[in-house]
Amino acid sequence: MTKPKVFLTRKWPRKAEEAIGEIFDVTLNKNDVRLSKLEIAKAFAVHDAIAPTFGDVIDKSVIEYGFKGQGKIISNFGVGVDHIDIETCKKFNIPVTNTPDVLTDATAEISILLMLMVARRALEGEKQIRENIWSGWHPTHLMGSLVNGKTLGIIGMGRIGQEVAKKAFHAFKMKIVFYNRSKIKKDLGFPIKQVSSVTELCRESDFVSIHCPGGKETFNILNAEAIANLKKSSFIINTARGDVLDEEAVFNALSKGLIAGAGLDVYKGEPIINKKILNAPNTVLLPHLGSATYETRTSMGMKVLDNLKAFFNNTKPIDMVY
Ligand code: DGY
Repeated sequence: MTKPKVFLTRKWPRKAEEAIGEIFDVTLNKNDVRLSKLEIAKAFAVHDAIAPTFGDVIDKSVIEYGFKGQGKIISNFGVGVDHIDIETCKKFNIPVTNTPDVLTDATAEISILLMLMVARRALEGEKQIRENIWSGWHPTHLMGSLVNGKTLGIIGMGRIGQEVAKKAFHAFKMKIVFYNRSKIKKDLGFPIKQVSSVTELCRESDFVSIHCPGGKETFNILNAEAIANLKKSSFIINTARGDVLDEEAVFNALSKGLIAGAGLDVYKGEPIINKKILNAPNTVLLPHLGSATYETRTSMGMKVLDNLKAFFNNTKPIDMVY
């Protein structure tokens, strides 16, 4: 029996590439160059499956092109699928899978890291050491804000939001409030309070951390109006998608001293970053590191493999997006 043909749009961790190569007839992107829509479309047309990832644009033209050829399934390497036109996939009956669960801890860790770094002024301190401008310990040197015991407002109480809540509660005794479009009844084993709007969340929070999916419905979910309700001592953290945060409003709030800081891992139009964000005071900016651990990225590849194995064995993949 001939093996189904699978196209990986980017380089994966070696173990995961080897594992998928044992089961399928795989085309790798050895140089790891970012591919154009047309390149992905052409690849989809001559493979049974594509495994795209964040940064690839899988729009109607790509899906249609693949469908007219050999393309049968899109198995995304990553949990977020806002770069894939799901409605068109439905129309052409092309299933889409993703890789939830395995990146929950890694992404939650980066949210906590950003909270600590920005509140405790870690980058400013590190810079002083490297530039040899540290004048020594003194009582008013680089004072930041305590994270412990503060109120954390979470936007989007899915898997990652819940994990951030757990880590924040257990490690830092934080109080947890959250905004989620649907009602969440889950018992996390400690008190959590759902509020009915992002504005209300901002009013109550010392830290606001965003964990909702990207896409049209959540575009700028944390906007100027909501940010205006934050205290001057509060911080914004984003490890979700650049599109969910109004960067212009964050810049205005930071430069006018209306909030204390922001820790960001994702950006609108990344990897190009809005100059205002680059120049804003009191920021910690990371290059989309949410799931970037060896363990996590390998597990993400293994999930793609499992989903494809299920599909080509005529069973339902475990991580069906629709
Ligand atoms: C995801 O899985 O959506 C991440 O953002 C990619 O690391």
